Amino acid sequence: MKNPDEPGVFEKSIEEKVIHPGGDFTAQSLVKDDYLYALAAKDPLAFWAGMAESINWSKRWEQVLDGSGAPFYRWFTGGELNASANCLDRHVLGGRKDKAALIFEGENGERVSFTYAELHKEVERLGCALRKLGVKKGDGVTIWMPMIPEGIIAMLACARIGAVHSVVFGGFSAEALKTRILDAGSKVLITADGSFRRGKKMPLKSEADRVLPECPTLEKVVIVERTALPYQRVEGRDVLYRQIMAEAGDPCPPETMKADDPLFILYSSGTTGKPKGILHGTGGYMVGVTTTFRYVFDYREDDVYWCTADIGWITGHSYIVYGPLSCGATVFIYEGAPDYPARDRFWELIEKYKVTVFYTAPTAIRSFMRWGDSLPAGRDLSSLRLLGSVGEPINPEAWLWYHEIIGGGRCPVVDTWWQTETGMIIITSLPGVTPMKPGSATRPFPGVEAGVVDEEGNPAAANQKGYLVLKSPWPAMFNTLYRDDKRYREAYWEQFPGLYFTGDGAWRDEDGYFWIMGRVDDVLNVSGHRIGTMEVESALVDHPAVAEAAVIGKSHAIKGHAIIAFVTLREGFAPGEPLLRELKDHVVKKIGALARPEQIHFASELPKTRSGKIMRRLLRDIAENRALGDTTTLMDSQVVASIREKFSEP
Ligand code: PRX
Repeated sequence: MKNPDEPGVFEKSIEEKVIHPGGDFTAQSLVKDDYLYALAAKDPLAFWAGMAESINWSKRWEQVLDGSGAPFYRWFTGGELNASANCLDRHVLGGRKDKAALIFEGENGERVSFTYAELHKEVERLGCALRKLGVKKGDGVTIWMPMIPEGIIAMLACARIGAVHSVVFGGFSAEALKTRILDAGSKVLITADGSFRRGKKMPLKSEADRVLPECPTLEKVVIVERTALPYQRVEGRDVLYRQIMAEAGDPCPPETMKADDPLFILYSSGTTGKPKGILHGTGGYMVGVTTTFRYVFDYREDDVYWCTADIGWITGHSYIVYGPLSCGATVFIYEGAPDYPARDRFWELIEKYKVTVFYTAPTAIRSFMRWGDSLPAGRDLSSLRLLGSVGEPINPEAWLWYHEIIGGGRCPVVDTWWQTETGMIIITSLPGVTPMKPGSATRPFPGVEAGVVDEEGNPAAANQKGYLVLKSPWPAMFNTLYRDDKRYREAYWEQFPGLYFTGDGAWRDEDGYFWIMGRVDDVLNVSGHRIGTMEVESALVDHPAVAEAAVIGKSHAIKGHAIIAFVTLREGFAPGEPLLRELKDHVVKKIGALARPEQIHFASELPKTRSGKIMRRLLRDIAENRALGDTTTLMDSQVVASIREKFSEP
């Protein structure tokens, strides 16, 4: 764990501004005053019990929270429900059957939309088809898809039949897919022939085929035809989505799930080379995401809501699929990149679909800023009423630009801090109520308790930098790490006994506002994507030329962090441009393009402590071009000097 007071690790150079939500917005918003905060503060469990009323339970729960097995908390014990029935059936029965549930625009401009009744039908069909393929409650299904409606249909179909989905981001490599299929023991893979990205076709199925023979649990592969890219059909294993849908019947009655039965696994990076399988349950998760979606995005029946995340990330799970659909919202999704075919693509889509609520990441906002104000100015963005930010700290400058230029100064910005593990938004403002401070995620959501502690776990004083912790359980919390209860305890609950450790550094100001500084562990945030330094290091040492590797994050104006690697080579390998390219490609092959190192530096040795641990913080100091921190434990100071010399070479 890094010391959050390490010089230069975090910047606290914020000129503080307070922006109050506008009168018009507040007058029309769901929450107009502090009552929700007050209600939750009085009795958090009673608050969550009340919120659980907005979920359809086929059997009512008996106990809100069972902490007897802490830190394995169980929410809404005794309750039974189905997540897909909450997202679909109740709206079909309850007056939203002809309301648009999902509106999709493809990169090449095609448009497909589904009413709640239509989406329900598709999900039932796929649910039936998967059952016919032999998928049963508790089985694992991996989904590796572009951002197309079939991805969402696949998630909901799994939820319907009680299969545990594991969505793997389409930008991960086939090798990363393999690791995740193996870990989850998935029986079925749902994928596409390929995806469109900036006018190019990117293969998926043919890539998957390189690794699927090494996945012994996998019985069937379902293929969505999207791009007409070629691939081999494996007889008996591969089936076409189109065909199984045509042959499937409906109805497909939803499986009854206990509140803590698993809904999905989502792999996320941690501090070791192996991604963590974050396992989410059903009841608490649905209560958490439904409640936070409704209040944080101030849900209105006529909203057109657009979250630009991919379903491969937790934001896609909680705030494209389960939260919004459970509330009966109209969700817009877009397949492509923000700069294709032109850099005003997102603004064009907001204008075209009259998007009212827009939720994106700071890295995108910083790119938009760089592309210039004239692009959004050229489009009609007057439909927008609320903006959201997620995934990394947003610098006040980007926040203010977003508020002024995209939101026209009239839309509150909700900066939402949360994690794959938390499942739901944890720290944020309530848009009609909470005064905003650009750069601060503001206050814990009602019913959630967060704090900042020092190294010993004692509460930090106001404005003192420390570690961000959650002080009590929250409903959408993960159940555990898949098949690794031990790592669950160690990684999250043992650092500060009785507290959940988030891995983030933060401070809290005198008004109780949280300022998040970023990760204090060996996890990087590159363009809002979480990448473990150890994962990249493992990928590098997997290459025959590499003896040792150390990976660090260097501040980057757009991406937040850029990946910088230092490697030492084995005997017989020479540094040089061709090897550099090869190593970068090797990381892409092992993990995916999102982990491609921005720079790789060859070194004859890496700086180590006398006990042989690589001192990454010194490498960070070198990369950030600042004075070296404490070097007293360094084994050989010459090593650092020579790396620094080489690093500063043009
Ligand atoms: O460091 C925090 C950062 O993203 C981490 C969680 O990453 P992941 O599990 O991939 O989930 C991202 C989407 C919820 C956190 O530990 N983070 C996320 N949101 C914010 C943030 N940092 C500052 N401000 C935020 N709003």
